[in-house]
Amino acid sequence: MRMDEAKGEEGMKIGVLGTGMAGATIATKLIALGNEVMLGSRNAGSEKAVKWAQANGANASQGAYAQAARFGEVLFNCTQGTASIEALQSAGADNLKGKILIDVANPLDFSHGTPPTLSICNTDSLGEQIQRKFPEAKVVKTLNTVNCEVMVNPALVPGDHDIFVCGNDAGAKARVAELLKQWFGWRSVIDLGDISAARATEQMMPIWLRLYGALGVLHFNVRVVAEGGRSSQ
Ligand SMILES: NC(=O)c1ccc[n+]([C@@H]2O[C@H](COP(=O)([O-])OP(=O)(O)OC[C@H]3O[C@@H](n4cnc5c(N)ncnc54)[C@H](OP(=O)(O)O)[C@@H]3O)[C@@H](O)[C@H]2O)c1
Repeated sequence: MRMDEAKGEEGMKIGVLGTGMAGATIATKLIALGNEVMLGSRNAGSEKAVKWAQANGANASQGAYAQAARFGEVLFNCTQGTASIEALQSAGADNLKGKILIDVANPLDFSHGTPPTLSICNTDSLGEQIQRKFPEAKVVKTLNTVNCEVMVNPALVPGDHDIFVCGNDAGAKARVAELLKQWFGWRSVIDLGDISAARATEQMMPIWLRLYGALGVLHFNVRVVAEGGRSSQ
């Protein structure tokens, strides 16, 4: 870890698996905050990853999933949901072992056209499948319910609104809730419990997609209101 003197915060080494909009947006924000980030893709030297690393300075690098996973103290899964297990297998269980894996992926299946369907739902979720496949990783599902620009800048959406976390490791979940506030400025983080709650947040995709159609903008979110107030981290 390094100290970022300007901000008085410790910079971390973070592996972001996935070079799409979500991976690149998260990785760019983490660099801006003074962290060292390696962006991972199926093959080291992919055009997108190289361009991203060149544009983001000395703390930015790129590599294959396994290299990025080895590099990071904390990891993000930003891979296409239907390919996440394959991508994480390529990252390697040993490189995930003992680490927080922040899973933002949704198992969206576009093979039957749009809107996409969920390839996993009801009695299982991608978050759970990842946790089962990699029992020594600390999977925390979060941020998958908002557009990636909102993930790293919730202030794009006016007013109070919520983000959800779930996972089996209480310490990892609390740490992620803290990082969401510190890195991105999330003010309300609702803990939904163990990783099986990923079923619920992944199943928010059908309503998210319809809201996108109805509102015509990407930057929106939900606010949970409850009788007698509510507790959130
Ligand atoms: N975009 C958003 O605003 C947003 C919001 C919420 C959640 N998410 C979720 O975040 C994840 C990433 O979304 P995205 O929009 O950034 O891009 P995406 O197109 O869903 O995913 C791109 C990444 O998936 C990898 N990938 C694709 N097929 C693969 C395969 N067969 N095996 C291994 N890896 C494969 C790509 O690898 P290469 O780098 O090698 O090409 C790339 O790194 C998705 O699960 C999505 O549901 C996205």
